[in-house]
Amino acid sequence: MTDTARSLITLDTLDRTTLEGLLESAGRYLAPDAATAHRARLAGEAVALLFCEPSTRTRFSFELAAHRLGADVVELEETASSQTKGETLADTIAALAAMDVHLAVVRHREEIMGGLAEGLPPGTALISAGEGTRSHPTQGLLDVLTIRRHRPDFGKLAVAIVGDIAHSRVARSTARALTLLGTRDIRLVGPPVFLPDEGEMPGTPTDDLDAALDGADVVMALRIQHERMAADDTPDAGDYRNRYGLDRARLGAARPDALLMHPGPVNWGVELDPELKDWPHNLIGEQVRNGVAVRMAVLEWLGGTTT
Ligand code: CP
Repeated sequence: MTDTARSLITLDTLDRTTLEGLLESAGRYLAPDAATAHRARLAGEAVALLFCEPSTRTRFSFELAAHRLGADVVELEETASSQTKGETLADTIAALAAMDVHLAVVRHREEIMGGLAEGLPPGTALISAGEGTRSHPTQGLLDVLTIRRHRPDFGKLAVAIVGDIAHSRVARSTARALTLLGTRDIRLVGPPVFLPDEGEMPGTPTDDLDAALDGADVVMALRIQHERMAADDTPDAGDYRNRYGLDRARLGAARPDALLMHPGPVNWGVELDPELKDWPHNLIGEQVRNGVAVRMAVLEWLGGTTT
């Protein structure tokens, strides 16, 4: 197995068996004793968290996951590291490998993971914590883990993803994970400026919100990703809310037991009305919780095999 193969930078190259194995493993890490019962799994290993873009959920859940598996954790503060002196991220990972840190978790605003994976030091595994608009594989995994615990028959699901899909790495990874598990009815909904090109990712783009919500089993809202678009392209938040913001009335077009999801952070009052905090099947908190278990599964999968 090459070092590139030992990385998780996208779900596009993952097969269904591996994905289901990760979900099974994550499911075990949801048990009540998971915070303390697995501290021997990665004892003696070290995980580097190299976040070059802001994060709350992904960063802290990887940190908790590493601790719960018994690994040491080192974290990069981009503005206080030698990156300010011109060091590349590849050289940072090489320096960490020299200190026997062989699991590198990287978030970056640009699409750099493929290049990093090609040049990894021997024995080092790279895990993407989100890159540009391309991929956020562990978010895709935690989203399907969350859905599976409520609606395990993926082949029968109608999933509506609503919002800024064009700039969303979450939408790409989650749609890929859904497709791997057999979901065919994926509706990609938003104003035309936020829609991907037909065929660019799994799902059917449409700007018709009411039609896309009709009979949906799962509705996932996305925030407007201002940081990934030019200021001139950013729609007015009020206009967006009026046309595509979800509230109880609009969600009424979906199935009565529709699952409501959002990868976070939520801009309440824009993509979701605050009244939806009380939606009976609001899974937003559960997604965050499941993120720790998924990241434990990924770290265990890629750790413990260093040369
Ligand atoms: N969903 C997600 O990636 O959230 P953070 O940016 O807080 O990590």
